[in-house]
Amino acid sequence: MTTNGASTSIVIFGASGDLTHRKLVPALFNLYRKGRLPKSFQIVGFARRPYSHDEFRGLMQKSVQEFAGEAYSDALWNDFAGRLWYCRGNLDTRADYEALDRFLCDLEDDRANRLYYLATTPDYYTAVVTHLDQARMVSEDEGWRRVVVEKPFGHDLQSALALNKHLHSVLNEAQIYRIDHYLGKETAQNLLFFRFANTIFEPVWNRTYVDNVQITVAETVEVGRRANFYDQTGILRDMFQNHLLQLLTLVALEPPASFKADAIRNEKVKVLSAIRPITVERVAQDTVRGQYEGYREEQGVAPNSETPTYAVVRFYIDNWRWQGIPFYLRSGKCLPKKTSEIMIQFRHPPHVMFNLDPGDELTPNILALHIQPDEGIHLKFETKVPDAAYDTRSVDMEFHYRRSFGNGALPEAYERLLLDALNGDASLFTRSDEIEMAWRLMDPILHGWDSSHAPPLALYPPGAWGPAEADAFIRQDGRQWIVTGGEHD
Ligand code: BG6
Repeated sequence: MTTNGASTSIVIFGASGDLTHRKLVPALFNLYRKGRLPKSFQIVGFARRPYSHDEFRGLMQKSVQEFAGEAYSDALWNDFAGRLWYCRGNLDTRADYEALDRFLCDLEDDRANRLYYLATTPDYYTAVVTHLDQARMVSEDEGWRRVVVEKPFGHDLQSALALNKHLHSVLNEAQIYRIDHYLGKETAQNLLFFRFANTIFEPVWNRTYVDNVQITVAETVEVGRRANFYDQTGILRDMFQNHLLQLLTLVALEPPASFKADAIRNEKVKVLSAIRPITVERVAQDTVRGQYEGYREEQGVAPNSETPTYAVVRFYIDNWRWQGIPFYLRSGKCLPKKTSEIMIQFRHPPHVMFNLDPGDELTPNILALHIQPDEGIHLKFETKVPDAAYDTRSVDMEFHYRRSFGNGALPEAYERLLLDALNGDASLFTRSDEIEMAWRLMDPILHGWDSSHAPPLALYPPGAWGPAEADAFIRQDGRQWIVTGGEHD
C-alpha cells in the first residue's frame, strides 16, 4: 500500500525535542522537496510547550535552514510550513489525545492514514500507545495507522519483552516500525546490493577465505548534554545492541530469497540466533570495557560511575559459513576520529613463493566497507613495486560515493526510513524477534560486567583508540585493529 493519493497525517510525539529539530523535520522537508510525500499530507507536532502554530513553524524553519543544507529555499519552506501544525498536549493526559484526534480529523479528508512517530523519551512509549488505543486512534477502519518507535527499545531483554508485549496488545506487528537509523544509511543498505547484485564477492564470503571481520563505530564526541541518559545506558546498550549487531547481520546473513521485508528479517534473525552467546563467566575473555578519562567529571555522571564509554566484543557465529571466524565489534566515544567501517580481512596466501626480505610478509587482502564518513568501498591488495625484484606493497582500489554519484547524493538516513514507513515497507525496521534476539546476546554481557567475572574497567585518554587492553585483546589472537589508512595498535 503506498501513500500517494490518500490524505496522510504524520504526528510527532515529542515535537520539542532534539530529534524532531535535527532529523525528523529536515528529513520531511527534503522528502517534500523531492516530491516524495503524499499529495495531501499534514505534519502535526505534539508536545507540552505552549507554542502557537507559527512559533512552532518558526523554530522548525531554523532547524531546516541549519540541517537540510543547501536544499532550503523560502518559497519551498512557505509551501511546506502551510502543512505544519502544532498541538499542545501532555503525554499522560487522555483528554489531550482526544483533542489531538479532533484536531487531526478537522485537517484530514475521510479515510486518512496516520503515522505516529514516538520521538519522546522511552519511558513514554507505553503511555502514548495506551492513550492512542483508548482514544481509538489506532484502529484501521478508516485508513492505515502505523507507529514508529525510536531506540532505545528496552533496557534489557525483560523490558524489551514487556514493551513488545504491550505494543502487541494494541497493534499488529505490521503496524510497528522499530527504528535503527543505521539501517537507513545508504551504505548499510548497499551491503545487500554489494553482496547479492554482484557475483564475484559471494564465493569468497565465508570461512574458507575470510580470516576475521572487524566492525568499528568510532566517535570523537564526549557524552556532553546526554550524560544523564548515557550514564544509565552505556556503550553496549547505546551502540552494540542495535547498530553494531545490525551491521553484523548484514555482513553475515545468507542470501534472502527475495527483497521482501520478512525474507530479509528472517535471515537476520537466523544470524542472531547462530551467534554463540558470551556467558557471564566468559566476559573477561571475550570483551573489553573502557571509559574515557574525565568521564566521571561530566555533569550528570555519577562520580564513581562504572558506565563504559568504550567496548570490544568478540562474537563467533556457529554456522557453516562462519564457524571459527571472529567478528570483532568495537565502539567508543572520545576516540581520534568519527568513522563507521567494516573491515573484512582475508586469509594469508597459503604459500609464499617470493623471496621476501627477512621479516617482511605479505599483507592480507582487506575489503573495507566505509559506512561513514567518506562513504565507499576499498579493496586492498598486494602489488609488485615497480623496478624492484621482489618488493611488494599494498595498494587500494577505491570507490567513493561522492566521486561516483556527486556531492549531496547521499540522503540522511531518516529520509529513507520515514518514506519507507509511509509506504509500508518494513525491510529496514527491526522485527520484535530480532530485537529480542539482540537483547539475548547483550544481557549476559551486561550481567557479567556487573559481576565478579567482569574485566577491569580500563581507562583511556580522550583521543586515543580506546584502552591499551583493547590492543592487547586482539594481539592475543595474533591480529591487529585495522582502520582507514592502515593498522594501529
Ligand atoms: C545513536 C546513539 O543511536 O547513534 C548516539 O544514541 C550516537 O550515542 C549515534 O552518537 C551515532 O550515530 P551516527 O549516525 O552519528 O553514527
